[in-house]
Amino acid sequence: MPEIATTPFPDQKPGTSGLRKKVTVFQQPHYAENFIQSVFDAIDAPAGATLVVGGDGRFHNGVMIQTAIRMAAANSFARVVVGQGGILSTPAASNLIRKREAFGGLILSASHNPGGPDGDFGIKYNVGNGGPAPEKITDAIFARTTVIDRYRIVEAADVDLTALGEQRVGELVVEVVDPVADYAALMEQLFDFAAIRAMIAGGFRLSFDAMHAVTGPYAHEILENRLGASAGTVVNGTPQEDFGGHHPDPNLVHARDLYERMMAADAPDFGAASDGDGDRNLIIGRGIFVTPSDSLAALAADAHLAPGYAGGLKGIARSMPTSQAADRVAAKLGIPLHETPTGWKFFGNLLDAGMATICGEESAGTGSDHVREKDGLWAVLLWLNILAVRKMPVAQLMAEHWQTYGRTYYARHDYEGIATEGADALMAGLRGRLATLPGETVDDLTVEAADDFAYTDPTDGSTSNRQGVRIRFAGGSRIVVRLSGTGTEGATLRVYLERYEPTGGRLDLVTGDALAPLVAAAEAILSIQAHIGRTAPDVIT
Ligand code: G1P
Ligand code: ZN
Repeated sequence: MPEIATTPFPDQKPGTSGLRKKVTVFQQPHYAENFIQSVFDAIDAPAGATLVVGGDGRFHNGVMIQTAIRMAAANSFARVVVGQGGILSTPAASNLIRKREAFGGLILSASHNPGGPDGDFGIKYNVGNGGPAPEKITDAIFARTTVIDRYRIVEAADVDLTALGEQRVGELVVEVVDPVADYAALMEQLFDFAAIRAMIAGGFRLSFDAMHAVTGPYAHEILENRLGASAGTVVNGTPQEDFGGHHPDPNLVHARDLYERMMAADAPDFGAASDGDGDRNLIIGRGIFVTPSDSLAALAADAHLAPGYAGGLKGIARSMPTSQAADRVAAKLGIPLHETPTGWKFFGNLLDAGMATICGEESAGTGSDHVREKDGLWAVLLWLNILAVRKMPVAQLMAEHWQTYGRTYYARHDYEGIATEGADALMAGLRGRLATLPGETVDDLTVEAADDFAYTDPTDGSTSNRQGVRIRFAGGSRIVVRLSGTGTEGATLRVYLERYEPTGGRLDLVTGDALAPLVAAAEAILSIQAHIGRTAPDVIT
């Protein structure tokens, strides 16, 4: 097989979401090839293996898909399954890997980061269970990138990605598949489409913002064609290489239009959005934003109303900074609650081991054991299924939820692009004071416990230390502090604020007011301003 000589790039360490860099970095000669070859060398797939390839359609997607196919052909794969047009949402790719029993898959995406020639690009390797490669594999990939001296690639014409069916590149069979079909079939198995269709036929209105990103075709097919929602339900539904110049990040800042539509007098009953690659979700009812942490709790409480979860849940998993709302649901259901480090990969082992069925993160990721990635449209459909059965507005459903479990007010404050030294000093100072914090009273809040979160995976005993500082106050409120592992410029400090009001307490506060004491406590404990020179966060979600 043709081999091309190359030399290593120093910056190819894959993070939790793969290798994510500016498009211009990926455009350097040999850059992407080095990384893809390092993946192939590290995983050492048996001859005859199948590889799934697809991406979120952002700028450079098409070029990279063709490169990946030519390299798969030169690396003894027997079959590449690729989404038509090079498109696969991340959850759909996870499903295809599982369904086709592929050895693994390459997902081309930078998730919710902006796209276009000056935007971001990414390559992530997922393993045979459909989930992101575990650390021992990403470590092996990185090790390989530091010594790589050749890559393999065949010379061949571009594959026609518009034509469904099989083509050949040398010995390799390239199968172009409808990116939506298998995913939509899976959703039909999990959810009561007839009940949702009846609810919509009865006048229930929804709005789904695909943010010019990959979920457009999925949402058109599922929400409009199969569930009968009117044309126009899906907005920004045609994937664009630059996401229309927007951040495809479904939060209250970047999905502002949807938020305003849902707060208007004539708002639809239900609003939702997803991100660049379709794994995140934003849920807004008429007049009410549902925090991702509350959404996880509400979905877990009522999941049994959907056919796919009628047998109940084996457990709930949430990332450490995600609010404890789901813990209260797990306690009531009498099932385990697993608190994991930030990042979806920690859920995979629990799902594989049958220890959890539903999992979620405060960063708008929710999912279940149906795939091994978070799944934006899945969350939307579970919400719709629950609403179709319970026949009440989102606001009433949440009010009843809080009356049952108490309410967890929640917000995340992000300080972006700050100097690394200041951020490190803040964390080091805080870590140095953990032992003395308990017992301290800040305003009216008494610190009950403080630690640096460490996790031991119950399935394989592996440990992850220094995952972020948890400060718990008497009464169940919390402040969590950690540095982002995904930012591309400087450091990003994340401060997670959570106030618990038990049943019978103040369940109807405005979130900002409810959290004001915790914001003050955070400044008093962390000295944010002194360390990083900021008086307010850049983004509140
Ligand atoms: C962020 C989110 C985290 C998510 C990750 C990948 O990571 O906070 O929940 O799993 O993106 O989508 P962070 O930048 O905080 O390390
Ligand atoms: Zn994403």
